[in-house]
Amino acid sequence: MSGHGTPIPMTSTPCGPLTGVADVPGDKSISHRSLILGAMAVGETRITGLLEGEDVIDTAKAMRAFGAEVTDHGGGNWTVNGVGVGGFAEPDNVIDCGNSGTGVRLIMGTMATSPITATFTGDASLNKRPMARVTDPIALFGAQAVGRSGGRLPMTIVGAANPVPVRYVVPMPSAQVKSAVLLAGLNAPGQTVVIEKEATRDHTERMLEGFGAEISVEDTDEGRVITLTGRPELKPQTIAVPRDPSSAAFPVCAALITPGSDVLVPGIGLNPTRAGLFTTLRDMGADLTYENEREEGGEPVADLRARFSPNMKGIDVPPERAASMIDEYPVLSVVAANATGVTMMREVKELRVKESDRIDAMATGLRACGVAVEDGPDWWSVTGHGPGTVTGGAICESHLDHRIAMSFMVLGISTKQPVSVDDGGPIATSFPIFEPLMASLGASVERKAG
Ligand code: S3P
Repeated sequence: MSGHGTPIPMTSTPCGPLTGVADVPGDKSISHRSLILGAMAVGETRITGLLEGEDVIDTAKAMRAFGAEVTDHGGGNWTVNGVGVGGFAEPDNVIDCGNSGTGVRLIMGTMATSPITATFTGDASLNKRPMARVTDPIALFGAQAVGRSGGRLPMTIVGAANPVPVRYVVPMPSAQVKSAVLLAGLNAPGQTVVIEKEATRDHTERMLEGFGAEISVEDTDEGRVITLTGRPELKPQTIAVPRDPSSAAFPVCAALITPGSDVLVPGIGLNPTRAGLFTTLRDMGADLTYENEREEGGEPVADLRARFSPNMKGIDVPPERAASMIDEYPVLSVVAANATGVTMMREVKELRVKESDRIDAMATGLRACGVAVEDGPDWWSVTGHGPGTVTGGAICESHLDHRIAMSFMVLGISTKQPVSVDDGGPIATSFPIFEPLMASLGASVERKAG
């Protein structure tokens, strides 16, 4: 659980070329869902390549608290003996989801249609984030929620004893909300229908189908209409978690902005609902290629090869691409600071309610490093003057946000002076091997104050 420990200041010092192979960890979204769906199946689900970051470990602990048997066999190999749909037991104690919005929102949805009560909390970041986006739809199933003002954690959910199925139009582009409603729908009789106006990551739909649920997806004028039949018997699965494109983003972007670099990032999931950053980087002129394209576990996968790209240009990022790269805007802004011209990022108001207000966190740190950034409620822009032109030399605040901390560490590789963060501790939530991995490529990211 991040945010509970002593801050870990980190400093990234400008360095020579990055070269080699970057084996990034398993996908965070798929790892959470593997544990949760495994807990809802009857029998043993086997998982390889699970991301063993703090966020996912907190979800594993939560699944144990609801009665599933979750076993760590080492090296990313886990098994889950599930209790079946509707089989959740009432936890003895408060469920602490640490830093993880995905963990808490998916689990609140999953338990909302069982006749049990559970109280959820998290770290200082998670306890500031809006939960009404989940408690509103689960109320339609018959669940009740009592939390702090503004719909914040800590929060108690009283699951519905007699749940009814729901038809819900998700009001914001959020895979967490969509997934919470679908997971709640698992234990409601009849058909639950979720409609999303913009496509967001579709791992829950793909995995529900894999576990044997009856689920259909239709593209209509109203949006993506997802229909799930409740009370299936989910069948245990063998899941190989692909590597996380959101983690791959850091070594890829670092290589693109560092002279002489050539980095291979193998086995990255390129589900189109996740790969928007890579398309955007190529639109900017990045030397980024997909090698050995293949399919693994129903997901498109490729080895990414990123080479130093001295001629990248700022672009207007198409807003309809936002959901497919929502976690990558912070590191994109670092690339934008090393490209030439203005990179405009529109319709991204969701960035303000992530682990931190990511527009504010990046804009403040980038400005302190000498970069011109403008921002409004749902947009921001970064003006760059080419590689190696950013001054750096600042201590940036990470605001308990792993992606903010890693983005500033990537920035410091290519600045004139080192860049520091006040606390790199949150990196362990999603990318526990970030420091040794970046060191193996030749970067200098150290645990020391600026
Ligand atoms: C996630 C959905 C996204 C993303 C998060 C993971 C998921 O959040 O930012 O890191 O696994 O469903 P939103 O649903 O808030 O967009």
